[in-house]
Amino acid sequence: MNETDGLRGAQPAEPARAPEPWNWRILVVGATGVIGGAVATAVRAAGAEVAVAGRDAARLAAVSARLDACPAFAFDAYDLTGCGLLGSRAATALGGLDAVVSAFGAVAFGRAEESADALDEHLFTVNTLAPIAVLRGALGQIGPGGALAAVTGVVASRPAAGMAAYSASKAALGAWLDAVRLEQRRNRVTVLDARFPHLDTGFAERAVAGRPPRLPPGGDLEACVAALVEGLVGAAARRDRGPAIGLPRQP
Ligand SMILES: NC(=O)c1ccc[n+]([C@@H]2O[C@H](COP(=O)([O-])OP(=O)(O)OC[C@H]3O[C@@H](n4cnc5c(N)ncnc54)[C@H](OP(=O)(O)O)[C@@H]3O)[C@@H](O)[C@H]2O)c1
Repeated sequence: MNETDGLRGAQPAEPARAPEPWNWRILVVGATGVIGGAVATAVRAAGAEVAVAGRDAARLAAVSARLDACPAFAFDAYDLTGCGLLGSRAATALGGLDAVVSAFGAVAFGRAEESADALDEHLFTVNTLAPIAVLRGALGQIGPGGALAAVTGVVASRPAAGMAAYSASKAALGAWLDAVRLEQRRNRVTVLDARFPHLDTGFAERAVAGRPPRLPPGGDLEACVAALVEGLVGAAARRDRGPAIGLPRQP
């Protein structure tokens, strides 16, 4: 995967193996969704301790039950204060926090002039402000060498017609991640931006407004999730090896 359509922020020459044992404590927010659920399952299978967060209570309980009754937190993107507290709630439940993955979002389709303030506000709240609140809150819990990750999408690099506000909301989150990656260099916190292509998860059919245009065939969900998990594993392996020497000073 390249940086435009794949995983932005991953180190190129990462070791592929997690430290033994991989004892990272990871919060997956949006684990009730297809991508978030797959990420939570994959990191748990790789040996991490997991906490999950989601909006739908029944799906959240089911995900937690599937993952050895792991800690689970209900949240709504419109409660930004609650979003900001998810990291500390997970850290309390898991005895610390090494990484957080934001994998929730909403999409709407239609030409820009057909949108409305309320709809654009919804997309920027769910896709930008809430993930930022989650990740910013978790930063206070994640120590040096930990990781932040968010699923933005290829539209963050290549805005798409009929999805102007969705593209802009994801690009804004991507810009925030780029800036935080620079800020966190000396802390060695890995900041991953998963710019996945279209995936057949049913997300487009669950649009809050409009009908999806003809979309390209869905990409390989398993490979995308594996790339994200590999990015987290690489961060853990680097932290295990200790601080990098000779890191240039940031301007
Ligand atoms: N599928 C794709 O083609 C694709 C490609 C690139 C990027 N992405 C991004 O990947 C993320 C997950 O998508 P997905 O394909 O896994 O779709 P999905 O299965 O529909 O998952 C959407 C997730 O967002 C959560 N969510 C929606 N509105 C929310 C709100 N107001 N408050 C809290 N949570 C809310 C849902 O929670 P509940 O289920 O609990 O309601 C669910 O966990 C999204 O950010 C999407 O933009 C998707």
